[in-house]
Amino acid sequence: MKKIFLFLVLGLFVIACGGDKKKKTSTNDGKGYGDTKNVVLNDPLNQEMVANGKAIYELKCAACHKLSAKRVVGPGWAGLTDKRKPEWIMNMITNVDIMLEKDPAAQKLLEECLTRMPNQNVSVKDARDIVEFIFQNDIDQKNK
Ligand code: HEC
Repeated sequence: MKKIFLFLVLGLFVIACGGDKKKKTSTNDGKGYGDTKNVVLNDPLNQEMVANGKAIYELKCAACHKLSAKRVVGPGWAGLTDKRKPEWIMNMITNVDIMLEKDPAAQKLLEECLTRMPNQNVSVKDARDIVEFIFQNDIDQKNK
């Protein structure tokens, strides 16, 4: 009887620790929260995607984001690829409300900018093209 009890206690202990681990990995390793789990980058960059990303930027993002590091309403985009993973950027674009609710890095930006980035209804495909453009922008900004 004693042995069975010990087993139960040990079992509970293992379950408790397992649960804890799960919680930790759900922070997504700097990838943010959303449908984008894995982005495979193109090398060299795909210029068709860059061009589409740029067109969407000019239409939907340029009012608040500069291509330099200067902040207007939102942060400037120069250097973005050094500080964020491409998955994080895509989740920020396609899932901004949840990101602002859950992701510590996004919340910190909100504290600095004092404006919530609105949901721009960008598709996952278009968000991927914007990421391609953001990578091209970082190359262009460094060559300036
Ligand atoms: C009305 C202004 C506004 C528009 C339009 C806007 N954003 Fe933002 N964006 C913000 C603000 C403000 C933040 C900082 C987070 C916050 O406060 O919500 C931000 C943050 C971001 C970030 C994170 C920047 C960093 O330094 O990590 C990315 C990436 C981003 N926006 C992409 C986009 C894209 C792509 C578009 C266009 C499809 C867009 N935004 C349109 C205001 C805007």
